[in-house]
Amino acid sequence: MTDTANLILAPIRGITDCHFRSIFQTYFPGFNSALAPFINPQRSSSFQPKQLKDVLPENNQALPIRPPLLHTNPEDFLFLAYRLQNLGYKEVNWNLGCPAPMVTKKQRGSGLLPFPDRILSFLDQVIPKLGIKLSIKTRLGYENPREIFALLPQLNQYPLADIIIHGRLGCQMYRGDIDRNSFARCLNLSDHVIVYNGDITTKETFRELQQLFPAVHRWMIGRGALANPFLPGEIKGITTTDPQQHLREFHHELYSCYRDLLDGPAHLLGRMKPLWIHLAESFPPQQKVWKKIKKCKTEDKYLDLVDSLLK
Ligand SMILES: Cc1cc2nc3c(=O)[nH]c(=O)nc-3n(C[C@H](O)[C@H](O)[C@H](O)COP(=O)(O)O)c2cc1C
Repeated sequence: MTDTANLILAPIRGITDCHFRSIFQTYFPGFNSALAPFINPQRSSSFQPKQLKDVLPENNQALPIRPPLLHTNPEDFLFLAYRLQNLGYKEVNWNLGCPAPMVTKKQRGSGLLPFPDRILSFLDQVIPKLGIKLSIKTRLGYENPREIFALLPQLNQYPLADIIIHGRLGCQMYRGDIDRNSFARCLNLSDHVIVYNGDITTKETFRELQQLFPAVHRWMIGRGALANPFLPGEIKGITTTDPQQHLREFHHELYSCYRDLLDGPAHLLGRMKPLWIHLAESFPPQQKVWKKIKKCKTEDKYLDLVDSLLK
């Protein structure tokens, strides 16, 4: 069955950089677009052009992206948004979802959700000057879904491209189940296009969510696609003749890309291993495989192990 669902690759810092996104899309078509990991929220005075490397259009030919910003200072946000506009971007995304304590303690990411007045003041200052579209990636709140329930009706007054909602609280990090009831309530409270995000790990889960939320047409998938790279294609009805060989070729291309870019085996393996935290799920018993990968200290050991898994 073919499905025209709009699938968006979620940002996973440390894995889904421009190299990964491009190679992934070549081997596993199925995503319509991606959100890049957010650009570090430095002051405009300390901005360096190399911060934009991951979002440069020439590094994102295979899969269109939206660049995300974590800034909460309107001037710094606009400074970077103008740079992105000059690169040709027609939309930027504002992150209100990051749960990392280093971020939330500065009242950024999901740490800003308990302060709706600050969010609205930011939007009041940014939107009239922005000149391109704005979308938001958020969670249900930092400590309580009442935070998003209070915020969403107020966001209806702003022209937003869409709102991506990960159905967890910031304080949960990535623990616990997705709160589907609260997500359903969000759909009723918002006039904006809402993107579903969280724990889409199989085609069956996706279909179940589609039935549960018929008003949703955009779906963001992160860890599920890292654990099973065929997932976006499976949802879209794309078949692969020799999955194991396909996965091996994908892995080897990614590996040789990072080998060319990075300085030495420690950096190279340090770059590849985070993917295996998720990919190991395709090779049960997951914990055993991940432990073996984690232990690899040399390229030879790593490649022998990967070849034995992907033979
Ligand atoms: C290791 C890791 C890194 C992440 N990095 C980012 C990030 O840079 N920006 C962001 O908006 N979300 C980030 N996320 C959140 C994901 O984009 C996504 O919202 C979350 O994983 C839920 O979706 P999933 O269940 O499909 O993975 C990260 C998640 C993980 C697990």
